[in-house]
Amino acid sequence: MKRFFCLLALCLTLTALAQQTPDKVRPICGPIIENPTTTGFTVIWETNMDAIGWVEVAPDDGSHFYNRDRTKFYDLRGHGNQVISNIHKVRVDGLKPGTKYRYRIMMKGVKSFDGPSNVDYTRPWGSDVYRKNPYTTSTLKENYDQVRFDVYNDIHQKDSILNVLMQAAKPDEIDFAVFNGDMVSSMAWKEKIREMFLTTGAANLKGSVPLFLQRGNHEFRGKDSKYWFDYIDGEQYHTASFGKFFFIFLDTGEDKPDNDIEYAGTMLSEPYLEAQAKWLEEVVKSPECKNAAVRIVFGHIPPRKGGWHGDENINEYFVPILNKAGISLMICGHLHQWMVYEPDGSVSDANFPVVVNSNCERLEVTAGKKEITLKAFSPEGKETHSYSCKTR
Ligand SMILES: [Fe+2]
Repeated sequence: MKRFFCLLALCLTLTALAQQTPDKVRPICGPIIENPTTTGFTVIWETNMDAIGWVEVAPDDGSHFYNRDRTKFYDLRGHGNQVISNIHKVRVDGLKPGTKYRYRIMMKGVKSFDGPSNVDYTRPWGSDVYRKNPYTTSTLKENYDQVRFDVYNDIHQKDSILNVLMQAAKPDEIDFAVFNGDMVSSMAWKEKIREMFLTTGAANLKGSVPLFLQRGNHEFRGKDSKYWFDYIDGEQYHTASFGKFFFIFLDTGEDKPDNDIEYAGTMLSEPYLEAQAKWLEEVVKSPECKNAAVRIVFGHIPPRKGGWHGDENINEYFVPILNKAGISLMICGHLHQWMVYEPDGSVSDANFPVVVNSNCERLEVTAGKKEITLKAFSPEGKETHSYSCKTR
């Protein structure tokens, strides 16, 4: 009997070890495309185990992907070392503007790493280019007559709803997508990012359409909130230029004062917003902003006077700066209902319209050089709201 239990314990231990260290490396989320420019883009994906990842890129010239050795791009975050991680972030650059490229994601799992010459790798694995077409994506053009994009916000972990919304979208017809915050309800554990929206988002964007992944107030909450940045290339507040269309992405912080009991002393939102406001002052003076034909701002929390503390913060920290910049439109979420604040001073001090997209709806935006049109769609595919405004 004693021998039986010893054998059982050994089997259980071996099974547990086998589960801890997979033999095969595979992607479990992504790839997603971030930070698109006229000369490059960043590819991010997650694997089922620690691995070394790289990306192979080929022109879209009709040749078979296996026609020749393709240009390889590596994860350079290791400061001279290969990055061994379950999240891979590879910058592809040096490309031609407005050009479609094919690519595949490559990886070899690291089962153990005991010393400089003692690494136990899995068999390498790459995304298929033989039975299926390789992934494709394009660099940004230098000029755009119009820019089209979809916005999703306040999904709050309803992954199946996100999937329905995104399946009704037309990824081939948009230039990018924005997840504008509160995609989860808390960051209590980091797996929520992958399991509760990002795998679905990546699958629907097909590794092709660039994604701007913005935080809402709920992504500030929870012990694993720091892991959010594993999935971001660059800074959380940033800008992007699509020709003369200039986009500002704000990180709008929490909705209550930092010392609220709900945060248990973990928040430092105010100094963060102050630093961001200083950055924004420089942004609106930049040639990219000044010379733009259309300027659109994204932020999760909308500016409001007399609202919650977070709403007031946006009105006080950012709106006075944005009012100097000739902003055409600000797109927000957070309120779980469709709202339009016209620039009449009644709700916020903004001298531009603020559109609040409802929760669990897809906002489809077409920005032309003279007019911006917005349409919101429910999960049933019904157009629920629309709005248009002149650019300036
Ligand atoms: Fe929110």
